[in-house]
Amino acid sequence: MQLTNILATAITLCASGVFASTIDIAYTSNGAYYTQTVPSNSMTELGHPGNITTFQDTGNCFLYKYVGGETTYAPAGVHTFDPAVYTEYVLCETV
Ligand SMILES: *[C@@H]1O[C@H](CO)[C@@H](O)[C@H](O)[C@H]1NC(C)=O
Repeated sequence: MQLTNILATAITLCASGVFASTIDIAYTSNGAYYTQTVPSNSMTELGHPGNITTFQDTGNCFLYKYVGGETTYAPAGVHTFDPAVYTEYVLCETV
């Protein structure tokens, strides 16, 4: 049981970003609000790709229309997009 507890603690710490380098994002896609945690420096598919009208990040992110496609830069902070920015993938780095 001791080992299970240690593993559980390690997983929790990783998920909260203490060890792993992750960026928290929150966005409005097609009118609905979602949050997601993404790894740094790794192309990550949005859980809910679509027309993004608000985007908040704890790191500097590039929003990709598709892999290799048009990008929109969203430095750490809160962003509002009007017109919406269609996004399928994000690539974020820690600040
Ligand atoms: C996103 O916006 C574009 C341009 O307005 C539209 O053609 C498309 O259908 C929208 N996509 C979704 C999933 O709403």
